[in-house]
Amino acid sequence: MRIVVVNNYDSMSDEVAKLVIAKIRKKPASVLGLATGSTPLGVYELLVEYHENGVDFSQVTTFNLDEYVGLAADHPQSYRHYMEKNLFAKVGMERKRTHIPDGTAADLDAECRRYDELIRSTGGIDLQLLGIGSNAHIGFNEPGTPFGSETQVVDLAESTIRDNARFFASADEVPTQAISMGIKSIMQAKNIILMANGGSKADAVFAAVKGPVTPEVPASVLQLHPSVTVVVDQAAASRL
Ligand code: F6R
Repeated sequence: MRIVVVNNYDSMSDEVAKLVIAKIRKKPASVLGLATGSTPLGVYELLVEYHENGVDFSQVTTFNLDEYVGLAADHPQSYRHYMEKNLFAKVGMERKRTHIPDGTAADLDAECRRYDELIRSTGGIDLQLLGIGSNAHIGFNEPGTPFGSETQVVDLAESTIRDNARFFASADEVPTQAISMGIKSIMQAKNIILMANGGSKADAVFAAVKGPVTPEVPASVLQLHPSVTVVVDQAAASRL
């Protein structure tokens, strides 16, 4: 595990965007695993700038980590909407190569199996971006999720609903379930970047990087992966 501590959010975004662009330059048909939330917004802004300066995303395939159950693609808080707004529409992605679990599927379990199968059939994820929850979740794999889990429907932890209420009118409107790539699905990525910023992530980062490897700290599983880069700002690294 390589740990890169940078000064602030902008430097974190810069560092991660450079790694993503290096991957795309080396392999234009890269398969990227993408996260949503506040953390990667700066990275996506920079990827848009790189695109405007000539980096071609037309052969890139993407798989998002998760989607809320019950939110349609055009719901302003759906992760499909987030990705369209912040990245896909701005870098000329071929939509048929952008994949996000369908949280409105009639058969959610079948949708989860379809998603893992699709990832496998593209040859797997070359580079997976991850944020981290204040409870150390990755994707929406909450504490206690078995490391062997594949993509599945998950109940969101109370703390996750509280953390994400800022995007909704009230906590009551936050969906209580999501489809999330499983821990095993994430660990199958060839390379992983975990990013975190801000003091509210310091405990989670410390537990993930220095603590025991346990399902109670989902991100701690990354200690077992052969190619992980952790990019954190000083506030998030303050306990390391
Ligand atoms: C998002 C995701 C989550 C977030 C995490 C941190 O697709 O899977 O694990 O990365 O909840 O969220 P932010 O970045 O909003 O603090």
